Order: sequence, then C-alpha cells, then structure tokens
Amino acid sequence: MAANPGQNRRVVSGMRPTGQLHLGNYHGALANWIELQYRYECYFFVADWHALTTGYEDTTAFKANAHEVLIDWLGAGLNPSACTIFIQSRIPEHAELHLILSMVTPVSWLERVPTYKDQIEQLKDRDLGTYGFLGYPLLQSADILMYRPEFVPVGEDQVAHVEITREIARRFNHIYGREKDFGARVETAVKRLGSRNAALYAELRRQYQEQGNADALAEARAMIESGARLTVADRERLLGYLEGGGRSILPEPAALLTRSPKVPGLDGRKMSKSYSNTIGLREDPESVQKKLRAMQTDPARVRRSDPGDPDKCPVWDLHKIYSNEETKAWVQKGCRSAGIGCLECKKPLIESVLIELEAIRQRAREYEENPDLVQSIVSEGCERARDAARATMDEVRAAVGLEYR
Ligand code: TRP
Ligand code: SF4
Repeated sequence: MAANPGQNRRVVSGMRPTGQLHLGNYHGALANWIELQYRYECYFFVADWHALTTGYEDTTAFKANAHEVLIDWLGAGLNPSACTIFIQSRIPEHAELHLILSMVTPVSWLERVPTYKDQIEQLKDRDLGTYGFLGYPLLQSADILMYRPEFVPVGEDQVAHVEITREIARRFNHIYGREKDFGARVETAVKRLGSRNAALYAELRRQYQEQGNADALAEARAMIESGARLTVADRERLLGYLEGGGRSILPEPAALLTRSPKVPGLDGRKMSKSYSNTIGLREDPESVQKKLRAMQTDPARVRRSDPGDPDKCPVWDLHKIYSNEETKAWVQKGCRSAGIGCLECKKPLIESVLIELEAIRQRAREYEENPDLVQSIVSEGCERARDAARATMDEVRAAVGLEYR
C-alpha cells in the first residue's frame, strides 16, 4: 500500500510479557525491532493486557515477567534514546480506544479471525469463552491505531490481526470522518449507476459492512470500476462509501513482514517456551554449550560413519542463521559425506551463538544491577507514548462527538 503522505513514518509493535526471552523471540522479532528503531519513529510495548486475555487466572508472575522482558529488550540492543519503550496498561487511552472501536466492530469480524478458534482449541485447559478473549484482536487494533503508524512489523501469524485493524480503521473513518456534504454527493453518484446497479450496490455494501463479506466487496468494487457513466470523483466517493472513505482520522497501517528465520528448538520443534526447548538470551555459557552439544540432529544419522542430510537436521537451521557461506559449505559437504561428526559440525555454531549471547549478557548486566534505571526508561517511554495517545484520543473523541468542553 502506498504510504499516506501525511502520515509519520511510525512503527508500532508489542510483545507479550512471557518472562525471559529466548533465541526464537530474538530472531523472530527483537532483532528486527533493533534495526527498525534507527529507520522509523518506533513505539514498542509490553502487551500486558494481551497476556491477561489468555492468562487471567494466574497473574502472579506478570510484574516480574514484564521486568525480565524489558531487560532482554535493552540487553539485545533496543536503545531508549532511539525508540519509545512502554507498558500497555500504563496508557489507559488504549482501553478507551478499544471501547470506542468496539461500538463499530461487528462480532462476526472477531469470530472470523483465524487465531480465535485455533487458540481456543490449543489452550483447552483454559476457559477462553470470554468477552476479553474475543476482543483481543480489537485491543491489538487499538494498540496500533493509537499511534497512527505506517507499519506494523509482525510475523506471519499476526498478519490477520493487522488486516482486521485495517478494516476497523476503514469502518471508523467511514462512520466518523465523512465530508459534510458527502452523503448527498454519494446519493447523486449512486443514481448515475442506473437503478439496477444502484440497488445491487446498496445490497453488496450492506453485505460487506454488516457481515464483512469480502466477495461482496470485490463485486461492488468491480461494478464501480466498470461504471462507464461515472466521473472519477464519483467513483472515488462510491468506493469510499463502500469501504469507509472520507477523512482518515485513524490511517490504515500496513503489515511489515519482517525477516523471521525458522528458529528450531533443541528438540527440533519450533523454539517455544511451552515446549521447554529454548536457549535463553541471558543463559550462562556453560549451559548454552551443553544444550547445543546435546541438540537433536538428523535422526537418520545414527553412527559417525553414516552420512547425514542437513535438510533434516535442526542444527542446519541454526547454521543458516549464524554461519557464513564458507562454514555452511563445509557443513553441507562434511555432513553428506560423513566427513565430519555432529559435534564437530556444532562447534563453530556454538562459538557464534556464545559470542552473540555474551554481548547481550554484558549489556543486560547493567540493567539487572540497576532496576531503577529500567523503571526510569519505562516511565519516560510511557510519558512519550501517552502524549501521542492523548493527541489521537482528542481527535477521536471530537470525531465521535464526545467532546464536552
Ligand atoms: N498479539 C501480539 C502477540 O501475541 C502482541 C501484540 C499486541 C502486538 N498488540 C500488538 C503486536 C500491536 C503488534 C502490534 O504476539
Ligand atoms: Fe546435522 Fe551437522 Fe550432524 Fe549433519 S553433521 S546431521 S548438519 S549436526
């Protein structure tokens, strides 16, 4: 999508406070944030209310987890003078925007979000039949739209959430951002469609707006594009009215699909806290070394003399992240010819991982020893975020008609 020229070059992203982060979190998200902070005005936050949507029953670790995550961010290289770091629940405007957006969000849009049913299936031990859990993508939309960003850096699994955010922004702008005589102008344009198409347009629009029917949207768009008697301005009005045009109070952000290499865990499955197969960002070097030496390899390579296949080996996925071309060629050749053993193969990898983690550990140490420093970084970030949030909410309230001064 072309960037709206009036929009700041802003980026927003959040992460749940899961406690100490691991290499999967680092290569999946954090490493990208660290690059983005020097190219955009970045807002990064600890999504503690999101953690509450699935973890409301036991919140004892919330505070400690948020603190650990913040130390990991700083240790990994988020620079508080380059980006704004804050905690979601300390910006109550997120809740206010969530509430206002909830008034214009069809329940069916939320039920259709692919992660909704998946997660309920996956987290069977919890009761996720709650209002809050259903509304979680909308809360995420509020988090995002609050800062009016150009991009939201997310992994594949979050793209649907950015998509619904765009739909909600469009709907909000449509309802509250219209030009004064927009309605009359749209009416004239609709007449120019001819009576049959005018009726069809009204019906397709209804199906899209009330049920989120994407096919209806596509059909209506095609009809408008092919409407020979329409002027360019009429066409834009009809498209705007169909999707929600007019003034953009909350501009639509785009998903920024960032590079997120596959990070295998020690057992070969995706690295994830719930699988207990992780390497922590601040884990001590002996433990890291021990874990990597014991890491799962190509299961078919039983003896040293058996040739292996890197494509069936999670260690190779780590080489792809950490090793240069020369080392990777050495692995390929040595593995397939049984010229090297698995421990030998892991050696340069272990070295690279340890070097990377050592830098993180060192930087993190300063923050571990000085919790007040972390507090003050966050307080400052919260203040900056809150200023931005207040500015947005002033406009939102005015647009909705909730202004009493
Ligand atoms: N839903 C995201 C996750 O579970 C976290 C998140 C919350 C987020 N709000 C956000 C990410 C806004 C990007 C933008 O990982
Ligand atoms: Fe995996 Fe390396 Fe062993 Fe091959 S040699 S199976 S790539 S660890």
